[in-house]
Amino acid sequence: EAGALWGGRFTSGPSPELLALSKSTQFDWVLAEYDINGSRAHATALAAAGYLTQAELTIMLDSLETLREQLRSGEFVALESDEDVHSALERGLIAISGVEVGGKLRAGRSRNDQIATLIRLYMLDHARIIGHDVIDLIDALAAQAAAHPHAIMPGRTHLQHAQPVLLAHHLLAHAWPLVRDLERLRDWSIRAAVSPYGSGALAGSSLGLDPQIVADELSLSSPAENSIDATASRDVVAEFAFITSLIGINLSRQAEEIIMWATREFGFVTLHDGYSTGSSIMPQKKNPDIAELARGKSGRLIGNLSGLLATLKGLPLAYNRDLQEDKEPVFDSVNTLEVLLPAFTGMVATLTYNTDRMAELAPQGFSLATDVAEWLVKQGVAFRDAHEISGDLVRFCESTGLELHQPTDAEYATVSPHLTAVVRGVLTAKGSVESRDGAGGTAPVRVADQLAALTERVRELTFALGID
Ligand code: ARG
Repeated sequence: EAGALWGGRFTSGPSPELLALSKSTQFDWVLAEYDINGSRAHATALAAAGYLTQAELTIMLDSLETLREQLRSGEFVALESDEDVHSALERGLIAISGVEVGGKLRAGRSRNDQIATLIRLYMLDHARIIGHDVIDLIDALAAQAAAHPHAIMPGRTHLQHAQPVLLAHHLLAHAWPLVRDLERLRDWSIRAAVSPYGSGALAGSSLGLDPQIVADELSLSSPAENSIDATASRDVVAEFAFITSLIGINLSRQAEEIIMWATREFGFVTLHDGYSTGSSIMPQKKNPDIAELARGKSGRLIGNLSGLLATLKGLPLAYNRDLQEDKEPVFDSVNTLEVLLPAFTGMVATLTYNTDRMAELAPQGFSLATDVAEWLVKQGVAFRDAHEISGDLVRFCESTGLELHQPTDAEYATVSPHLTAVVRGVLTAKGSVESRDGAGGTAPVRVADQLAALTERVRELTFALGID
């Protein structure tokens, strides 16, 4: 059987039905160059232990580079009979180097430790790409915040008007979860940078190869402590799938808001023509499709994570072929985010905020009632009573169709003797926002501090993630 890695103990070749089911080259081909890098590293370890002469090592490495070129040019492709990328590449290597040298590469290595390493290399590379894309989005949010340092909007809880806040404060509230996603990628990468190479099929190798050589060659930190764990576990894959899902969920929450804010009823934002879509029938339409796709694709990312977790549940030690099912969900999550993030960032960077409308609505819905209560506290009224008095004022204004600053002095006095004309001084959205200058608050000075802190944190993470 052309390219088969086993056969000695079998009297017949595999059935066509088995081959059709077993085959993974249609998706694991993206690991081909990682496989070549792994093979280079393994060959180096074999030579260091005396299993390849210097001349053989040279042939091996040169042949692997020739194979890499053939792969890139499309000259080397998978055959129907190749089970997976690993067996295909061994076939390709032997075709170039001859079986005398190429046939030595598999010593002390199994596809089990090989695949467990390659998926880590793939994820580490894409973690940097995704990290870079996430930083671009954080930068876009930060730039919008910096461009609107004084704009005030209605802050909401339960989707109801709550208290006025700075638009910049609100935008940065979407940036911080993404900063934590970067931190998650950084923390995860420490666990991911462990090399399963040397674990063999499950029990380790008797050949005395130095797995640290392989780890060093692959820019991984150290070999795995336990060969059974290294070949059988995929928690590092599940964790990566979780982080990509969470990034998707964080985009989805922003997306939902943008969709709402772009409605006529809200009228808070206008989408840039380049980042919105029209309708095939309704000429007036301008639709937030990027945001909707972000919301939709977050479901897909969650599905990839759930599917992977379900695959892992109940697997006995050590390697089982079920583990082959780890790849497609992770590849899909990576591809999804790498297309979604740049589009999403473009949409955020080009959004126009209708700050006049936001400012007009900010004090409405009695959103300054808390300011009345806190003003009363500063006059020496107990908060319990202050809350009650402010509530009475809201009820009075609601029944008379007034805003909180509009009753006469006499009307204030009928609500409570503690309410005097002076209270009107705190009854502006601007005054309310400026007064909230405690840690993390919405006052412009605090938000400026926050923006500086965010920028610094992102700078550190850029460095820690090895992103340029
Ligand atoms: N293609 C397999 C995977 O993705 C690796 C090969 C291991 N196969 C085996 N029969 N031990 O997990």
